[in-house]
Amino acid sequence: MCWIFAYNGQENPLPLLIEWLRNLEYRGYDSAGVFAVAADGHFFLEKAVGKVSALATKVEKNEAKNDAYITGIAHTRWATHGGVTEANSHPHKSSQDRFFVVHNGIIENYRELKDTLQKKGYVFYSETDTEVVAKLIEDMYDGDILSTFERVLAHLVGAYALAVVDREHPDTLIGAKLGSPMIVGLSPTGTFLSSDINAVSRVATEFVMLDDREIIRIEGGKYAIFSLGQEVEKNREKITDEFQTATIGNYETFTEKEIYEIPDVFKNALKWRVNFETGEIRSDTLDALGDHEIDRIEIVASGSSYFAWIVGSYWFRELAGIPCEVRISSEFLYDTFIPSNRTLYVFMSQSGETADVRESLRMVKKKWCLTFGIVNVVGSTIARMTDMWLYTHAGVEVGVASTKNIIAQLAVLITMALSLGLKRNLQVKDAREIVRHLAELPAKFELELAGARTLNPLIEKYSQYENFFYLGRNLLYGTAHECSLKLKELTYLHAECYSAGELKHGPLALVNPDMPTIVLNLKGIMRDKTASNIKEVKARNGIVLGVVTEGDDMDDLYDDRIEVPTTHPLLTPFLPLIPMWLFAVGIAKKLGKDVDKPQNLAKSVTVE
Ligand code: AGP
Ligand code: GLU
Repeated sequence: MCWIFAYNGQENPLPLLIEWLRNLEYRGYDSAGVFAVAADGHFFLEKAVGKVSALATKVEKNEAKNDAYITGIAHTRWATHGGVTEANSHPHKSSQDRFFVVHNGIIENYRELKDTLQKKGYVFYSETDTEVVAKLIEDMYDGDILSTFERVLAHLVGAYALAVVDREHPDTLIGAKLGSPMIVGLSPTGTFLSSDINAVSRVATEFVMLDDREIIRIEGGKYAIFSLGQEVEKNREKITDEFQTATIGNYETFTEKEIYEIPDVFKNALKWRVNFETGEIRSDTLDALGDHEIDRIEIVASGSSYFAWIVGSYWFRELAGIPCEVRISSEFLYDTFIPSNRTLYVFMSQSGETADVRESLRMVKKKWCLTFGIVNVVGSTIARMTDMWLYTHAGVEVGVASTKNIIAQLAVLITMALSLGLKRNLQVKDAREIVRHLAELPAKFELELAGARTLNPLIEKYSQYENFFYLGRNLLYGTAHECSLKLKELTYLHAECYSAGELKHGPLALVNPDMPTIVLNLKGIMRDKTASNIKEVKARNGIVLGVVTEGDDMDDLYDDRIEVPTTHPLLTPFLPLIPMWLFAVGIAKKLGKDVDKPQNLAKSVTVE
């Protein structure tokens, strides 16, 4: 996503901002910019399109970088309004270089605000919605930046995190948020504004969460927070080890490093929650959830989290006997909402900041329904907004395309389904059997990782194709979707995913020797039915790569095979992920793509 970072205090902000930008090297964004102002009002402004290293290099070449500045703001942009150009990059400014603004989000009514300002004679240099904010501050300025900003915010419709500096009052930094995240980082030398806790974890010792419509003023490094014009006291929280910044170690990419962390990530997600001896689930949160009278679950998520939920929904039906509906958050949000006090509304998000999920949650909360969050980033907005939540504890995930977190999400989902099942209709002995197989999964992941090299000839062969089908059925349907999404994200090749049984209803028309079909067909999950679907592909000269259980004897079905270890049928959705992610990474590397930072994508999508 786009990130905001700002500082006012005793230190020169520019080196801090550059260091921060360098840490973001691998995140999703398309341009970056930095602004710093000195006590006498002279300022430094630099922007660059592309990687933040391009900006850092520009800054480092600039002699003025060594001047003594007291306040600074920096930004990485994920373009929503206007192309990826230097002019559209942030910070944006008012006329006469007075007010400087960085913004994360979308100002939905920017067109009408811009028209009004243009009629008054304001001239715009960018296509962004953000520049309107800078010009509006200038237009409404009443001699006091705090009260001006408050009145400006009242005119903005949409979502924002904003940080603003008035060059005539260089020792003051102002910020506010609505929807988009903003955290206040506190260090002994000054105060930071940041889009996430991880970004300030190296430099700050405590943090304060800013809430929607609050305004923060930082002056001489000291902050004050205002709500409806009144100063408010807010809780300060310690920054703990949980907010660690990841390092790449000996790996070529973060994405590979994160895939290799999977055995530990999986164990971590279940630690303290599953008693592998007795098959019991130990979680105060899940115990408390089991006491609620729920007869339906409605699940809201996006992207990979949505696909993990498709798998999870089968577990909830099978193990707990609860009807379970999975909804794409951007659709759920604008559909007619029929609240029910016997439905549990679950929101799952790695980042905990996805705007479509967050706004869906807000809509559900307005109707006083019971909400549950499954989130990776500790302290993120969705975790804080839900009534109950579980963390996936996957650690910082740097690769823009999610991998290890999905395994942690699946681990939490099966735990939750087992827990609800044990309170309802699941027999303890069956739960114990599943838990026994869960305990064996880390060793099976290790085997898959150790066999990574065997994928090389397949990577070589399949990187020649441009279009792919992915197929799966039942519990493997969500996994097939996830594998297909990862191939798209990492390689930019075209992949479509269908339930294997659906192929004959139309997509079969596309099958030809130039469009290989990758089919997940493991033992225990409708293997024979899927085999018939594969035969339909073979009959049309399609090429088939099968992801199969080790020792599978259906040899004549597949042109190529990837074997995965055996497990309990209900746990099969875990096993195709590692080889299929490594397969996608391998093709991406072969095609020279940026594995950690795919084009056009952002790690957390904080706009609708
Ligand atoms: C995953 O590889 C994707 N980049 C993306 O689909 C992601 O899963 C989606 O944007 C949801 O993110 P979240 O889990 O942080 O809410
Ligand atoms: N809407 C703004 C723009 O397009 C901000 C985008 C962002 O959040 O980076 O410039």
